[in-house]
Amino acid sequence: MQNRFRSSRNPKGMKVRIEKVNFAQKFSLFTEHYKPKIIGEVNDLHVKVVKLQGDFLWHHHDNEDELFLVVKGALRMRVREDGAERELLIMPGEFVIIPRGVEHLPSAEEETHVVLLEPKTTLNTGNVESQRTVRDLQHI
Ligand code: NI
Repeated sequence: MQNRFRSSRNPKGMKVRIEKVNFAQKFSLFTEHYKPKIIGEVNDLHVKVVKLQGDFLWHHHDNEDELFLVVKGALRMRVREDGAERELLIMPGEFVIIPRGVEHLPSAEEETHVVLLEPKTTLNTGNVESQRTVRDLQHI
């Protein structure tokens, strides 16, 4: 009877059991700011969580669009678009998509919890190499 249903497999072909994911539980596992962690994979995308506080840095991604979904706090996203700079305030329950090629600067006054959805090839600092560049992301 059990064999009537397929087992689930991850991208590497390993058998996995489907489990739900709780954002609060994932955010309880780390404290650092601007160090994204991987919490899931959807086809060629990573689902990540990151805590922000203070300014990140201006950068863009040549090939990747990035989605920022706010769970807690408030994200100030500065963007340079059509020859002008402006700021969007993203509140819990809201998200913003930054298209490839657009200069952006994430910033937060209070500690802000953000879920990221972006291609696996995405480097957090995009075209900029800095102390904040994280190459090998931890899976949590
Ligand atoms: Ni970015």
